Amino acid sequence: MIVDRALEVIRDRSHRQRMADADYWDERVQSRDGDARSVWHSASFNHAWNHRQMQVLESAFRQLLGDIRGQELLDVGCGTGRITLELQRMGARAVGVDFSSAAVQAASKESVAKEPPIRFMVGDIARPPLPFDNESFDATVAVGCLAVACKDLASLEQALRELARLTKKSGAIVLLEPIHSSRLLGRVLRASVADWLQAADRAGLQLVARRGMGFIPIRLAMSSFDLPRWMVKPVFRAGENALESLPLQRLADYSLLGFRHAYR
Ligand SMILES: C[S@@+](CC[C@H](N)C(=O)[O-])C[C@H]1O[C@@H](n2cnc3c(N)ncnc32)[C@H](O)[C@@H]1O
Repeated sequence: MIVDRALEVIRDRSHRQRMADADYWDERVQSRDGDARSVWHSASFNHAWNHRQMQVLESAFRQLLGDIRGQELLDVGCGTGRITLELQRMGARAVGVDFSSAAVQAASKESVAKEPPIRFMVGDIARPPLPFDNESFDATVAVGCLAVACKDLASLEQALRELARLTKKSGAIVLLEPIHSSRLLGRVLRASVADWLQAADRAGLQLVARRGMGFIPIRLAMSSFDLPRWMVKPVFRAGENALESLPLQRLADYSLLGFRHAYR
């Protein structure tokens, strides 16, 4: 079991470029369960991870948008709807877009009983435009999407321009992405935070919020194997506390970048 999982992780890691294809995500949705379809293998790690990601996102929304109840939010690369459903639970009117039709189908199924219903649609952020008018949303959000959707900095800039087009002039663009230039940690796009900020600047966006989450040594050690929750929770929390209180931002796996339009 552990050997199978280790082999799967190595296989995944050595075929990272496949993450830019919808087939990869379709297959993943069909072969895994629950949050492992969109996030990590380990259910106990995903529990801690979800909680932390929502804390980081909620604090960014509070800072950038105030109360999100009733606001129109677009979740780009929504996968099976993990974040979209949370946004809706927080009172926003959320729409999810993903290029994996299997993910969109699964998300739609899970949200069927929600009131108001959540709209999930197939759409490719690497091939804009998405089917919405200019300034349709108070905020656009991408969690773990652009680092796999964009193959180079030109396509990142194009995707950011599209998010800017869809976001109201008074709104915000919120990214929580695994941003790395190294071979070990980089996803499809291997680029530094400074590269992302330059692409955002060229797309007419101004950075207004930044922080990190996902303490790398703990994330790498625990995200693939189902260790008991009582073990994962305190270790995960210790890592996040270390990131918050010590000058260790370079050891964050995910970066929260919040933007506004530079020219409103
Ligand atoms: C790591 S998963 C994250 C899913 C979701 N945001 C979450 O956090 O649970 C990345 C998602 O991005 C989607 N994705 C990748 N490239 C995309 C593209 N070009 N356009 C739209 N979605 C894309 C994948 O299908 C996948 O569902």
